[in-house]
Amino acid sequence: MLNIILFGKPGAGKGTQAEYIKNTFNLIHISTGDLFRKNIEKKTSLGLMAKSFIDNGELVPDQITIDMLKNEVIKNKKANGFIFDGFPRTLSQAEVLDLFLKSLKMNLTATISLDVEDSVLEDRLIKRGKTSGRLDDQNIEKIRNRFEEYNKKTSPLISYYKSLNKFHSIRGTGTIEDIRNELNNLINQLKLDD
Ligand code: C5P
Ligand code: MG
Repeated sequence: MLNIILFGKPGAGKGTQAEYIKNTFNLIHISTGDLFRKNIEKKTSLGLMAKSFIDNGELVPDQITIDMLKNEVIKNKKANGFIFDGFPRTLSQAEVLDLFLKSLKMNLTATISLDVEDSVLEDRLIKRGKTSGRLDDQNIEKIRNRFEEYNKKTSPLISYYKSLNKFHSIRGTGTIEDIRNELNNLINQLKLDD
């Protein structure tokens, strides 16, 4: 199995790249952000719980996100592997993911970070906000709040996965195709090492 976390700040290109690698390696793509947005659209109770956090650029409380993620994995238990996009975002989400995968006799292959500087990310998100309809993409304060949440709660995952020898990073700027090729090469290498 190939289980990959795509890691990076908002706007780093996780979703864009996940679309490619899910096809190339026949993986299920789980984007927790997309799942939340679908639930908000359908006005489910999960969506209602998550909406104000998301609109303000804050993280949704761990337990809500973790339960949603677990459900999605269990629904696809027969998969060839998973791309986790936007999850985990906190240390406790990461620890739960490890235990959860182990309980299913699955294993995390690697965490791959797409590295992009904040000024580029801000431009990308504001641009995306013009078409995405996402409130959290349309306001610079909210975008900066998302970066702050990342710095405070998500960036500690870098040393966590480094300590497990599972952290890799590639440059997230350049053409989508160049990044995709780098990602492909890295994943092929990881498969060989496995
Ligand atoms: O991953 P994405 O940027 O699409 O996530 C959008 C929003 O969903 C985040 O800013 C956050 O409010 C919420 N989210 C979360 N916890 C996650 C993933 C997303 O709180 N693990
Ligand atoms: Mg995304």
